[in-house]
Amino acid sequence: MKKGFIAVLAIALTLALTACGNKNNNGNGGAAAPSATVPSSPGKTATGKLADIKSAGKIILGTSAEYAPYEFHKNVGGKDQIVGFDIEIAKEIAKDFGVELEIKDMSFDNLLNELKIGRIDFVLAGMTPDSERAKVVDFSKNYYEAVQAVFVRSEDKDKFKTLADLENKAIGVQTGSTQEKIAKGIKDAKVKSLGKTTELVLELKSRKVDALIVELPVAQGYVANNPDLALTDITPKYESGGSAVAVAKGEAGLLAEIQKTLDRLTADKTIDKWVSEMTELAEK
Ligand code: ARG
Repeated sequence: MKKGFIAVLAIALTLALTACGNKNNNGNGGAAAPSATVPSSPGKTATGKLADIKSAGKIILGTSAEYAPYEFHKNVGGKDQIVGFDIEIAKEIAKDFGVELEIKDMSFDNLLNELKIGRIDFVLAGMTPDSERAKVVDFSKNYYEAVQAVFVRSEDKDKFKTLADLENKAIGVQTGSTQEKIAKGIKDAKVKSLGKTTELVLELKSRKVDALIVELPVAQGYVANNPDLALTDITPKYESGGSAVAVAKGEAGLLAEIQKTLDRLTADKTIDKWVSEMTELAEK
C-alpha cells in the first residue's frame, strides 16, 4: 500500500520535471534544446554558426540601409542611426538569442558574398528569396510580402499604363536586385543599374532614366516626399516580392532559431505595426 503510493509519487514527480524541461526548451531564445525536442534539426542546434554566435555574445547583421522603410539612415536625436522595420526584427532576433546586435551596412550586391565567407551572420535587407539566390544561401520563410512598383516623373505618368509602356525605355534599378532581373526581361529596355536607390532617384529627376522599379512601400515613400514623382499602376510580376532572412548555406540550427522569432512577430502582427511606424519615421 505504502510502496504503491511512493511509486505513484515518483512517477508524478518525473512527469512534472519533464514538463518543466519541455517548457524551457520551447521558450523564446532559450538555451539550445536537447535534440529529442527538436526533431527538425537533430543534434545540430548548438553547433556551427549558432554556437559561435552564442559564445561570442554577438550576432552580426548585414544590410544595405538605403531602402526605407525596410532600412535607412536617419538622424535621431542628433545622431546618424540605421533604422527600419528590418532593423527592429534583427534587434528582436538578437534579444531572443540573448546576444548583442552588430550592424554592417554595405552595398546590396555585396551581401550574399559577405554571408558566404562568414563576415556577417544573417541578412535582412528587404531581400527576396529567389531560386538563384537559394542556390548560394538559405532563406527563412517570408516575413513580409510586397508587390513590385514602377514610378516615374509626374509629368510622364500618363505615358506609363502597362508593362508594355516600359519597352524601349531607360529603366533604373539597383545593382544585383531582383528588379534588375525584371528590367532585363523587358523588351529593348535600356537598363541602368546603380548601387543606391537615392542615386537612381536623381537619375530619374535629371531625365537620365524614365522609370524606376522598386518594392511598393519604397516607391510610396519617394512619391510622398517628391511632388515631381508619381507612382504608376504597373506592377511587374516576379517569382516573389516578399522578404526573407538569409543565412549561410547549411546553417539549419541558426535558421531554425531565427524562424522562431519571425513566427512570433508575424503571428502577433508586430511586423505590420513596425512597417507603419517606420514608414512614418521615414517621411518625417
Ligand atoms: N527585394 C529586392 C531584392 O531582393 C530589392 C531589395 C533592396 N534592398 C535594399 N536594402 N536595398 O533584390
